[in-house]
Amino acid sequence: MVHHFYDICTMLLSLFKKKIQPDLSFIAVDMHSHLLPGIDDGLQDIEKTISFMQDLHAVGYKKFICTPHILNGVHNNSPETILPVLDNVRALLKERNIPILVEAAAEYMVDDSFEELVKSDRPLLIFGRNNILIEMSYMAPSPNLYQVIFDLKMKGLNPILAHPERYNYYHMDFEKYIEIKGRDIFFQVNLLSLSGYYGKQVKKTAEKLSEKGMVEFIGTDMHHDNHLMAFKQLTSSKYLYDLLKNKPLLNTTLL
Ligand SMILES: [Fe+2]
Repeated sequence: MVHHFYDICTMLLSLFKKKIQPDLSFIAVDMHSHLLPGIDDGLQDIEKTISFMQDLHAVGYKKFICTPHILNGVHNNSPETILPVLDNVRALLKERNIPILVEAAAEYMVDDSFEELVKSDRPLLIFGRNNILIEMSYMAPSPNLYQVIFDLKMKGLNPILAHPERYNYYHMDFEKYIEIKGRDIFFQVNLLSLSGYYGKQVKKTAEKLSEKGMVEFIGTDMHHDNHLMAFKQLTSSKYLYDLLKNKPLLNTTLL
């Protein structure tokens, strides 16, 4: 219902806004998505995976680093569940001669079991130069966030915090973002946060983080059709390019 109302509003708004040709080639690499089919709350069908990737490829993405959730008890993923699905997607792209690069990592929920995993010798799904994507619950911050950041850094890894702008409990306390950033961690903002898809406060926070140069990565966090629809709406408006122009994004270093 909420999504439906949102879609109608954005459609009406778009009638009054000047449309431009989407060009996301300055991002080039999407390093946060749920496009791998059937292993979390993202896409469920491999044909859809291919069609979403083609749609995104058409507006400038060259590579997708897919990041299925790893959340103990909810999405019990691991390299064993994720990598075979990556192989299937790559095989189908190859079979159809579609020139899209695909890799897989994960979006790790920072909880006790993740802390235990980091302390163990079991392999972690990383990408680029030792980057690892982590997230917290939308309900409450992870009490062990700083411990986990420390442990990851001791392993020579660079943690990237997924969608900091979506943690509502920090919206009234911007200092908290500065404090977390002080732990030498990268921030990844969702493109759709800038469209207002997740609400006004999320949009405002994403803009503030971006304006203050606190955003290193931009991700689609693409899960389903509504996301793709909102994405197309956002990327055909000039606003996005004005906001991100001249920002020191690191996405292209992952090419
Ligand atoms: Fe995500």
